Amino acid sequence: MDKSIRILAIESSCDETAAAVVVNGRQVLSNIISSQIETHKKFGGVVPEVASRKHIEAVNTVVQQALEEASMNLNDIDAIAVTYGPGLVGALLVGIQYAKGLAYGSKKPLIGINHIEGHISANFIQHKDLKPPFMCLVVSGGHTFIVYVKDFGKFEVIGETRDDAAGEAYDKVARSLGLGYPGGPKIDILSKEGNKDAIKFPKANFHDGSLDFSFSGVKSSVLNYLNKMEMKNEKVNKADVAASFQKAVVEVLTDNALKACKIKGVDKIAIAGGVASNSELRRNLIEKGSKEGIEVLFPDPILCTDNAAMIGSAGYFEFMKGIKSELDLNARPNLKLGER
Ligand code: KG4
Ligand code: ZN
Repeated sequence: MDKSIRILAIESSCDETAAAVVVNGRQVLSNIISSQIETHKKFGGVVPEVASRKHIEAVNTVVQQALEEASMNLNDIDAIAVTYGPGLVGALLVGIQYAKGLAYGSKKPLIGINHIEGHISANFIQHKDLKPPFMCLVVSGGHTFIVYVKDFGKFEVIGETRDDAAGEAYDKVARSLGLGYPGGPKIDILSKEGNKDAIKFPKANFHDGSLDFSFSGVKSSVLNYLNKMEMKNEKVNKADVAASFQKAVVEVLTDNALKACKIKGVDKIAIAGGVASNSELRRNLIEKGSKEGIEVLFPDPILCTDNAAMIGSAGYFEFMKGIKSELDLNARPNLKLGER
């Protein structure tokens, strides 16, 4: 009964080819990430076709490194977990096909994992005693959700973006400021030198009582501001723009996430996804959360951005419930949370 369950996990949904070995969903033996950021930088964003090709080049090496670093071979592994959605279809297929080959050859179970569930699970690695129920704010380049985690693998979406994801807005604003890709970390750093009250950018709130988000308004408003300044031949203070934009985004994320905690009566909120690395989001959430008696948890930055350890953690909890996938597992680019 006390046998350790070792999951080999593979992630290739966007621009990181990653593999990891995770024990019992919480202990990371290896976490290898091959990032394509340098390649996509030239284009100002991820080019799907290029991403697929880069995954093909990297996947074998990354998986072998993950096993080697964990001092294991396939015989030591209990199951192979792989991200099957949401994400870029061509990118997902590379990881899935590779995982299927391994599962077939080694006769080990295959488990398809939802990428968003993986992001949430990163918190189980970081916080060894964390158990549902808790609220999770998932903020990445492709997704923005407030999720009520009722139990392991059981989710209720309380709010989501109706247009751009938070990270997408960061990346687009950074691009218009000439800061390069990915823009989130650059805006985070530059904001520290700026005045967040210098420019008033709008915070979208819906009047239907929904906790949904909208970030296209604030993004357009930054672009309009920059155009106006250019037309008037006035110098733009980039740090002020970055800090003011960040304030608009972070405040609405924080306020809605804390409202969701109150509605569901939970006193714990975890954050996940690339934007969960943001220093102002962490600071603001901790400050406001503590006033309301809500504990704020977040993973180390390496577990926030795309990685396979989080997929290995989610894979363990699915494995323990007896969930496995067949060898006809396919990519599901629009896979919803909680769906199989
Ligand atoms: O989770 P992730 O690696 O990929 C997706 O699943 O989308 O998230 C990447 C996103 C990018 O938009 C990046 O700009 C953003 O996370 N990001 C940040 C920070 N670090 C990464 N955004 C704001 N502040 C940061 N420090
Ligand atoms: Zn992600």
